[in-house]
Amino acid sequence: MNRLADTFVLSNGRGIPCIGLGTWQTASGEEAVEAVSCAIKMGYRHIDGAAIYGNERSVGKGVALGIREAGISREELFVTSKLWNTERGYDRTLDAFEKTLADLGLDYLDLYLIHWPAAAHQFDDWQAINRDTWRAFEKLYHEGRVRSIGVSNFLRHHLEPLMTADVAPMMTADVAPMVDQLEFHPGFMQTDIVSYCQHNGVQVEGWSPLGRGKLLTDGRMVQIAERYGVSTAQLCVRWALQHDVLPLPKSTHEQRIRENADVFGFKITAQDMDAIDALPFMGGSGSSPDEVDF
Ligand code: A2P
Repeated sequence: MNRLADTFVLSNGRGIPCIGLGTWQTASGEEAVEAVSCAIKMGYRHIDGAAIYGNERSVGKGVALGIREAGISREELFVTSKLWNTERGYDRTLDAFEKTLADLGLDYLDLYLIHWPAAAHQFDDWQAINRDTWRAFEKLYHEGRVRSIGVSNFLRHHLEPLMTADVAPMMTADVAPMVDQLEFHPGFMQTDIVSYCQHNGVQVEGWSPLGRGKLLTDGRMVQIAERYGVSTAQLCVRWALQHDVLPLPKSTHEQRIRENADVFGFKITAQDMDAIDALPFMGGSGSSPDEVDF
C-alpha cells in the first residue's frame, strides 16, 4: 500500500480502499458532514458507517458534499453501513437496508455488514437468525443493491456457519462473507479470528485501530513512534496495514484526519512489529460478541 486510494482486494474481486474513516461517535449534524466531506477532499476514498451511529443522514450529506468538492464520481468512493441488532431476520433486514440507503441518499452501498452476530447467550436459535439475515444479504448482493457483503464482530463459531460449502462442507450459504470487521489494535489482536479470516479469503477490517485513543500515550508505543518520527496514531494505523488489516480510524478533527492517513512514508521493521505484537492487553473495549447485552 503506497497511498490512500490503494486497495485490498475482496474475494469477489472488488477493491476496497485501504484506510477508511470511522464515524462511530461522530455527532449527527455539522460534525459528521464536515468530517466526512473533509476526509474525502483530503483523499480518503472509504467511509465506514452504521445505522446505530444515528448519523447516517449527515454522513450522506458529507458524502455528497465531499464528492462534489473533490470532483470525483460516486464510483470512486467506497461507502459501508451495518445492520443493527434489532433488525435481524430476512424481512426486517431488507427494510432496514432501504432505510439506511434512503438516509444516506445513495442508490447502492459498497459494503453492508451484519453489525453483531446473534449469539448463543441471547438466542437458542442464534444460528438460524444469522442465516436468515445472511439470506437477505445474499439477495441484496445478487440484485446489485450492495456490491459486497460481510459481517462484523463475528468470531470463528459465528462466521464458520456462513462460509460456503468449499470452506465449511455442511453449510448452505451461497455467498461467503467478504469482510469481517473486528476490534483490532495494539494490545488487542484477536489472533484466532484474524488468522481464520486471512486463511479463508475474508478481509479483516479493524475498528478502533487507536484503541479509541487510549493507546496513544502508552510509553512503549510513544518510544517506537518517536524513532520513526511519526505519531502513535500513525504507528497504530501503519501497524494494522502491515498486518493486512484495513484500519478505520475515527476523528472529527481535520488535522487528525489528515495525520491518520499520512502513513505511507515509513515502514515498521519486523522487529518493531514483533515488539508491538507482544504488548499486553490494553485499550480493549471489553465488548465480546459472546457477552454483549445489546
Ligand atoms: P477525535 O474524534 O476528537 O479526534 P478509534 O478510531 O481507535 O476508535 O479512536 C478514536 C478516538 O481517538 C477518538 O476519541 C478521536 O478523537 C481520537 N483520535 C483520532 N485520531 C487521533 C489522533 N491522530 N491523535 C489523537 N487522538 C486521535
